[in-house]
Amino acid sequence: MSEEHLKKIRKCVENQNLWRGNKTINLIASENVISQTAKSLSYSDFAHRYAEGLVYHREYQGQRFHDEIEQIAIDSVKKLFNCKFADVRCPAATTANIAIYYGLCNYGDKIFTLSVPNGAHISMRKFGGAGLRGLKIFDIPFDYDKYNVDMDLFGNLILGIKPDIITLGASVFLFPHPIAEIKEICQDIGTIIHYDGSHVLGLIAGGEFQDPLLEGADVLMASTHKTFPGPQGAIICTNNEALFHNIEKGIFPGTVSNHHLHRLPPLAIVCEEMNRFGKKYAKQIIKNAKAFATELDRKGFKVLGKKLGYTESHQILVDLSEFGRGLKNAELLEKADIITNKNLIHGDDVDLASDPSGIRLGVQEMTHLGMKEPEFKIVAEFFKRIIIDSETPDKIKREVNELRSKFLNINYSFDELGVLND
Ligand SMILES: Cc1ncc(COP(=O)(O)O)c(C=O)c1O
Repeated sequence: MSEEHLKKIRKCVENQNLWRGNKTINLIASENVISQTAKSLSYSDFAHRYAEGLVYHREYQGQRFHDEIEQIAIDSVKKLFNCKFADVRCPAATTANIAIYYGLCNYGDKIFTLSVPNGAHISMRKFGGAGLRGLKIFDIPFDYDKYNVDMDLFGNLILGIKPDIITLGASVFLFPHPIAEIKEICQDIGTIIHYDGSHVLGLIAGGEFQDPLLEGADVLMASTHKTFPGPQGAIICTNNEALFHNIEKGIFPGTVSNHHLHRLPPLAIVCEEMNRFGKKYAKQIIKNAKAFATELDRKGFKVLGKKLGYTESHQILVDLSEFGRGLKNAELLEKADIITNKNLIHGDDVDLASDPSGIRLGVQEMTHLGMKEPEFKIVAEFFKRIIIDSETPDKIKREVNELRSKFLNINYSFDELGVLND
């Protein structure tokens, strides 16, 4: 490799660390940062190895510490989410959904999920995992007054269609889903209730959203890097042994070979951080989301879910159709170093995906970095100045960078206790 090539690569990493790591106010609802304590054990020899199979039943030699770390991670997940069985091998939630559909469903089985404009992730739909498994997909009806599943319609649909599996959970996820009601209707049909908690896993860990397994979900799966502030990856939890063994086969040999072992030490650390600090962290996320939404509304934005208190999660949805829609405004915000994403909002046609009506905001990363309600009021003022008052983003960028420079350490973590130096 030429020296110039190496310099370019180094510079790119430095730039990323400086810009996204230190200067921007990141409001992407699916991202987070991990503590220094977890980061310090994120890259190791584990990153070079294979461990196909189950703990103590592997395909290769050299597994002594692979088994130990995977068992520690499994036990940490089981303890945090209070479940009998857990699997930590899927390197992403997309893979976890594919593995679940592969392990639990047959070609042609019937599935209900939300539609994409109403919040589904693509991995639950025709062009993702559900389609890949050849599932017949039906849309869960949505109540636009409650920003939730329309139970008046859904009950009869379940009884008529008799789905094999229902996927709850969403990428746009303001309010907890009615798991218990759905479970009761499904009781005699034998439908599997699969809950994708990717967005809200950190809130579940803190006991501040809903407890899917306790409320009746058969399987809880999730990303470990959104509100749950861990390494990128996924977990699958259940209390049902038969389902678990089928999911295990869906993972390997089904859909995962190398499961990226270097994720496991930081995953186990962050589980313990969530045991210790998760309640406070999750409570603050929800307080921040409500304060941010209230302030955006006060400043003249149409924030969805107003009658219901805007949100019970880390997310806020803003309808920007009167200010030029999602794309243009997400780009303007980026010029001021505020990072968001354009998003379909409830009722948008899926064809609008390239320039939907709204943006989706998540407060979890900035909360993890210590921001509280007063800072989110300042951020709401930035939004007004950029989007409503049309001030030049460049000028606001300096103020954004200055605010961000006060929030560089990770809260609700072992960093605060100095565990790294022990
Ligand atoms: C509900 C939901 N499920 C699954 C995924 C996929 O997550 P991953 O990026 O871990 O594959 C996402 C991603 O944002 C999501 O929102």
